[in-house]
Amino acid sequence: MSLPVAVVGQSAVDVVYLIAAIAFILGIRRLASATTARSGNILAAGGMLLAILFTLLRDGMGNWQLIFPALAVGALIGLFAARLVKMTAMPQMVAIFNGLGGGAAVLVAFSEYQRFAPLPSALPGDLLGASLFSALIGAVTLSGSVIAFGKLQELLPGAPTVFAKQQLFNGALFVLALAFAVVAGITEDGIWIALVIVAALVLGVLFVLPIGGADMPVVIAFLNAFSGLSAVSAGFVLSNNALIIGGTLVGASGTLLTLLMARAMNRSVANVLFGAFGQVQEGAVAVGDGGTVRETSADDVAIMLKYASQVMVVPGYGLAVAQAQHTVRELADVLEEGGVQVKYAIHPVAGRMPGHMNVLLAEANVPYPQLLDMDDANPEFPRSQVALVIGANDVTNPAARHNQASPLYGMPILDVDRAENVVVLKRSMNPGFAGVSNELYVNPKCAMLFGDAKASLEALIASAKAA
Ligand code: TAP
Repeated sequence: MSLPVAVVGQSAVDVVYLIAAIAFILGIRRLASATTARSGNILAAGGMLLAILFTLLRDGMGNWQLIFPALAVGALIGLFAARLVKMTAMPQMVAIFNGLGGGAAVLVAFSEYQRFAPLPSALPGDLLGASLFSALIGAVTLSGSVIAFGKLQELLPGAPTVFAKQQLFNGALFVLALAFAVVAGITEDGIWIALVIVAALVLGVLFVLPIGGADMPVVIAFLNAFSGLSAVSAGFVLSNNALIIGGTLVGASGTLLTLLMARAMNRSVANVLFGAFGQVQEGAVAVGDGGTVRETSADDVAIMLKYASQVMVVPGYGLAVAQAQHTVRELADVLEEGGVQVKYAIHPVAGRMPGHMNVLLAEANVPYPQLLDMDDANPEFPRSQVALVIGANDVTNPAARHNQASPLYGMPILDVDRAENVVVLKRSMNPGFAGVSNELYVNPKCAMLFGDAKASLEALIASAKAA
């Protein structure tokens, strides 16, 4: 079946690919600020649409009866997923997208290899190498991303799943996959590339299982870089420049994000990937250990807030769950009317995805200059009468500073305990993402206002207005 439009020559396609690449780069550049991010996203998506259209118009394209239904199904799934998935489930969605990228690279590699396999040595050496690389990296990305999705969606236990000599076993499996790839390269027999894929799929599962849930964001960024690499090699296999450029951008940005996130937690990437972070350690503080937890009321907190000259709001994952971003803004407005200065302390890994708190607070039109990142926020705590912690937990745990047994040890935290008073809004004494209790809660300065963050904030607004 042929398409009822004129086909486009390769040089025209390459020019369009170049335009698409420029759109990708400018789009990513615009993602650096919340005010330009939306237009950046549209620009990059427009570049991708152009690249897809011109790829379809290339000479030699066919099989429309498969391509069109696949495009329609994919577009519909993407549309519904983007509209229906909650902000808090975004990391899972990114994990699945990475996995699909890896899976697509495996299919490209496998089908190109099989196309030439019956004719020994028909596959040029560089394409052979690219196919095998694509199969290996793509399969690790696919199965690793499925496990990351399972952990974040709580379908699998978030704690590291470890067994004796695991890293040694994984290393041996990697060598085995490489050995299969070498034999596949020499014999050009389809069974060997299938074995490469199977070994790499098992490797992806065993690579991600021992990594704790709290490190999943870094793993997702890492697998994102891997999906970029597999797209690059698939691009070489298909001689497709758009895929090579797009994959390179994904690979580079995924690598940078991995490094930045590891740095924000003061950990090395190797420690994140191979440190089995999040295992229950002896000596990690248990809830309520060594002190009493003090409960407070909305009326008492409202008075404390109204008499403060500076209040630092510390948002975390619970703020996102409660969808309380607009309510916190309202409370800030009430306090500011009374002359209180309100600032927001943003930890780089607060919430469940990079920039999570910035996105939420921008949605509620919190003025940008009031959002302080960790380095600027920490010196402000000793100058503040109240640190109002809203659904944040791990990013405020002082154990990160001194308790070597805590899985959070070494992660820079927001120094909320250096404010005069700390008020924590959460529903219970349950731990946060890392699964450890927070010694802040037994600090005599700290009082707990239990309840859903939005309901507690509404109560605070009412009390502050009445006081
Ligand atoms: P967490 O440590 O996960 O704590 C969130 C707290 O919110 C929980 O203790 C929970 O306590 C409370 N909460 C949940 N729903 C609530 C509601 N409706 N109202 C009030 N409170 C509610 O959050 P965090 O301090 O933002 O730290 C983030 C953690 O997630 C870090 O460990 C980080 O490494 C990890 N992580 C980060 C990312 C990125 S990139 N940001 C991605 C994935 C994971 P209750 O159940 O008692 O209410």
